[in-house]
Amino acid sequence: MAPGPFSSALLLPPPAALSFLLLLWAGASHGQPCPGRCICQNVAPTLTMLCAKTGLLFVPPAIDRRVVELRLTDNFIAAVRRRDFANMTSLVHLTLSRNTIGQVAAGAFADLRALRALHLDSNRLAEVRGDQLRGLGNLRHLILGNNQIRRVESAAFDAFLSTVEDLDLSYNNLEALPWEAVGQMVNLNTLTLDHNLIDHIAEGTFVQLHKLVRLDMTSNRLHKLPPDGLFLRSQGPGPSRPRHSR
Ligand SMILES: *[C@@H]1O[C@H](CO)[C@@H](O)[C@H](O)[C@H]1NC(C)=O
Repeated sequence: MAPGPFSSALLLPPPAALSFLLLLWAGASHGQPCPGRCICQNVAPTLTMLCAKTGLLFVPPAIDRRVVELRLTDNFIAAVRRRDFANMTSLVHLTLSRNTIGQVAAGAFADLRALRALHLDSNRLAEVRGDQLRGLGNLRHLILGNNQIRRVESAAFDAFLSTVEDLDLSYNNLEALPWEAVGQMVNLNTLTLDHNLIDHIAEGTFVQLHKLVRLDMTSNRLHKLPPDGLFLRSQGPGPSRPRHSR
């Protein structure tokens, strides 16, 4: 009998080790091998790659470009380079939470036209520039909480103004936001801005945001709310508010 692809696996006695190797081989059979210590699942049509807590210092180059879900949580990635996610046109869900990302190259996500969710929370971003999130024309969830963001350029969200549903910028150092851009996010239902230094919301920001159901501005520097229909509705006649002393 000719030696098959499993011949080396047959030398290993425990059946568990054998099936593990078979699994790895099956995962690799359609494309590139799974990068070391990552877990790759290829359950058609969804190719998933999980590389959490694997000590990564950068995004591994050997990722199958057809990946649909990619989780790189809890590593030490410091920069997102232009080539890291190039050609990943099927990617729907990208998680980069809890790394040390301080730099994102211009156009780093430009090929991710199918991406619906981008998690960049708990990193070291200091700003969001106009060219960094370019190309994300299908984005629904953008999670940027717990960074050190001081500035968001007015064009930063342009690619997904009409698709984004959930924007989280909580726990940053923002004093202001490009309110005109926020005002164009007609599908926004959750805006999370708590724990920043925001002292002002531009008048009329919420006029077109008919789907907004949750706005968190806790722990900012607002002294008054803008004269906006959204706030008039939420403060207007309705069930009486609970009192402290009864
Ligand atoms: C992306 O695709 C282009 C065109 O097919 C190719 O030249 C390039 O090497 C690819 N880049 C990566 C990182 O796969």
